[in-house]
Amino acid sequence: MHIRLVDELKRLYRIVARIWLFIRRYKAIIILAVFLAYRIFNFKPDPSKRTASLAGWSRDAPRSVADYLDPTKDTALIVPRHFCRSKALLTIAVCSYVHHFERRRAIRKLWGNFTDFNYSVFVKLHGHLKGRYQDVLPERLKLYSEYLSGEGDSLRASIRLVFIVGRRNLASLLENEAVAIEAQKYNDVIQENFIDTYNNLTIKAVMALKHITQSCLNTTAFYFKCDDDTFVNVPNILHFLLGGTIPVNVVTAGFHYGNTYEVTSPRKRLTARREMMYGRQHCNVPPATNKLNKWYMPSYMFRGGVYPRYLCGSGYLLSIDVVPRLYKASLGTRIVHLEDMFVTGLCAEKAGIKRTNHPLFRSSYPYEGDEQCALKGSFTVHRAKDNVMWEAWYRVTNFSSKCPPPQKDFHLRLPKMQRC
Ligand SMILES: *[C@@H]1O[C@H](CO)[C@@H](O)[C@H](O)[C@H]1NC(C)=O
Ligand SMILES: *[C@@H]1O[C@H](CO)[C@@H](O)[C@H](O)[C@H]1NC(C)=O
Ligand SMILES: *[C@@H]1O[C@H](CO)[C@@H](O)[C@H](O)[C@H]1NC(C)=O
Ligand SMILES: *[C@@H]1O[C@H](CO)[C@@H](O)[C@H](O)[C@H]1NC(C)=O
Ligand SMILES: *[C@@H]1O[C@H](CO)[C@@H](O)[C@H](O)[C@H]1NC(C)=O
Repeated sequence: MHIRLVDELKRLYRIVARIWLFIRRYKAIIILAVFLAYRIFNFKPDPSKRTASLAGWSRDAPRSVADYLDPTKDTALIVPRHFCRSKALLTIAVCSYVHHFERRRAIRKLWGNFTDFNYSVFVKLHGHLKGRYQDVLPERLKLYSEYLSGEGDSLRASIRLVFIVGRRNLASLLENEAVAIEAQKYNDVIQENFIDTYNNLTIKAVMALKHITQSCLNTTAFYFKCDDDTFVNVPNILHFLLGGTIPVNVVTAGFHYGNTYEVTSPRKRLTARREMMYGRQHCNVPPATNKLNKWYMPSYMFRGGVYPRYLCGSGYLLSIDVVPRLYKASLGTRIVHLEDMFVTGLCAEKAGIKRTNHPLFRSSYPYEGDEQCALKGSFTVHRAKDNVMWEAWYRVTNFSSKCPPPQKDFHLRLPKMQRC
């Protein structure tokens, strides 16, 4: 008994001695590994690295929304005549640079060319996949009947399109006149009195919230914000708003997650009328530290290690009740120049509104693979500039080419949706 204990102790001693030898021999490598593991698991970008100042938003620039937007006054240089007097199921605000005349022209001619949206376009896009998606919900047709007319394939929904622009610091007289003529002709431009720059996009988005809050709450049911390089598949968005689902095709199958692909399930229908914020959700995004980065964030604007979850600014879809709540929250939130993070992150968090990720809001134009089916089956595609916008439109409206359904069992390869 006694001898056995001694043996055991000796064995233990030998093990400890061996470990000690190992540590001494490889201490440099061990220290390095522990250090790396610590860095990887405790990675927090250091705000002290973000000291460079941001163009247009120096450390001491006023950052209250009220310094740039007077909620009690009408500060707009141009507003459409009878803005929001008529009923529209969906009001789309396109944030555009004042000098982007061509992009606005393209949007009006292409995806924005509906005052009444003819439902037959959805049927032409996806009718051959009938049975592979949920149709619109009769309850929702009833609920939104004031915005609809006709029925079946000739159902029509009214839409409103408005462009939000600022002004240029040193605009030529010619340019100012061109904006005035454009606004007069199409009656779809809101021009506000701030300098139109990338770093002022937050002001632009909040101006849009102000105008919608002041004029549109009683005449529209949903609000969609996008940029002038966003391709919007309006038929798909309307079908979704009215309780339908978008059929999955051979390309869009790859956009889905393990819990989103089942579009024949009634559970995937939109039933909410209020408290609704949909888009492409970004989680745990750290602020950019490189001052040459377009999204560089100085620490005096945002101190934290990661942004709150937010929806990509290339397109977010809200029920109209959310708009005044975001607007109100924005008035008490210090400006951060990244519009989407500010509105759908900081302000939405303050207002306590839940955001939902939807895989059909695509962040960049699908240059590779079958673009046509990607465009036909999505809600939005970002970075569709200039000729790409036209190309995208011709592809979507080529009704003679039909996107085939996905391969069997495609869902077995789908990833899990990221959790924030
Ligand atoms: C919209 O489309 C119609 C019919 O194709 C066309 O007549 C009209 O000019 C278009 N509107 C704009 C603003 O391009
Ligand atoms: C609207 O739908 C009706 C019925 O399907 C169709 O006859 C008409 O051509 C459509 N109009 C447009 C502009 O697509
Ligand atoms: C934003 O607009 C305001 C008001 O016109 C202007 O004072 C400021 O310089 C602009 N900021 C940027 C970053 O352009
Ligand atoms: C909307 O309707 C409510 C209640 O009917 C009314 O109090 C409010 O002034 C209306 N708002 C607008 C912008 O017309
Ligand atoms: C439409 O698509 C079909 C099939 O892909 C193609 O053959 C045809 O050229 C396209 N039409 C146009 C106008 O692009």
